[in-house]
Amino acid sequence: MPQLMVDVGHTKYPLHIEQDGIYKVGNYVKKQFPTSCAVIITDSNVQALYAKQVEDSLDNSSIKHHTIVLSPGEPTKSFEVLIDVYNKLIALGIQKTDVIIALGGGVIGDLAGFAASSYLRGVNFIQIPTTLLAQIDSAIGGKVAVNLDTGKNLVGAFYHPKFVIIDTQVLKTLSDDDFAGGMAEVIKTGAIYDVALLNTIESHAGRSHIMKVIDDVVHRCCAIKAEVVKQDELDNGLRMILNFGHTLAHAIEKLPDNTFTHGQAVAIGMVQFAKLGEQMNITSIGTSNTLQKIVQSFGLPYEIVADKDKLIDIMKRDKKIRDGKLNLILLRKLGEACVNPIPISQIGELL
Ligand code: GLY
Repeated sequence: MPQLMVDVGHTKYPLHIEQDGIYKVGNYVKKQFPTSCAVIITDSNVQALYAKQVEDSLDNSSIKHHTIVLSPGEPTKSFEVLIDVYNKLIALGIQKTDVIIALGGGVIGDLAGFAASSYLRGVNFIQIPTTLLAQIDSAIGGKVAVNLDTGKNLVGAFYHPKFVIIDTQVLKTLSDDDFAGGMAEVIKTGAIYDVALLNTIESHAGRSHIMKVIDDVVHRCCAIKAEVVKQDELDNGLRMILNFGHTLAHAIEKLPDNTFTHGQAVAIGMVQFAKLGEQMNITSIGTSNTLQKIVQSFGLPYEIVADKDKLIDIMKRDKKIRDGKLNLILLRKLGEACVNPIPISQIGELL
């Protein structure tokens, strides 16, 4: 498979997609930062599974290293934890020429990336994403952030890694829920950009089948993400299509009694907004049916079970509303998305 690069003009970096890539971290770090010390930031779940492989690989390349272990889960993406990380970096004597390695899913990538972007006004950073969602989406494109009590990702930066190591073997230890959640974003990528990818997903329904072609699928998703980010790094245009299904998903996730994971909520959002697009004569008829079958085949939900008025209230406060308009991401057809700005006054008619 050809080497993928993310090229946003002011910086350019490779995505190393390879099985057992975590055993080669030392080689890659040595080549890029010959005299650095490395700090692995991870969570306790990932530490138990994969920290030793990364640490051994750094040892084999004679790279000094430390590991900072955080609690798993979304609450880790907070200012309190960030300050704790800064203090640990200072105590370890980490300098500007050293490197922070994010080893984990989206929470770790975002938190470690934001720490890297701000500690000493920016230190070297690499991503080793260990969830499907992080491998195909959050670890690529430079978005790093922490949450506030008032909302997710409200403080952050665009800060790109020097490279990303994507080892699809690590996906084998994901829970079924986390794997399915990642598949929701894989399906989204096909739905917005590549009908051939969607056909591959459809013909490999279920975890064991898709794992047979996972390197190709991850490679294609990463190529699409890299292309979208290249065209619109700062999320003012094309990059917004990555938000397909997410406006409704974020509203579902904000409900106090929500039990859906992010991926499950995205699956519901995609199918429901495909239906909405059909009703608005923007999406070709039959699109929502096909999407529904695909999300179902990975055990993902597609129906709204919550109070629609509450969801609409939340969508009216979506943080992505600009100039009184919500950028509604819809499909024209499978493999092609479009951005439709609608006034807040019309949000009430969406569900
Ligand atoms: N995850 C959406 C983006 O990177 O823009």
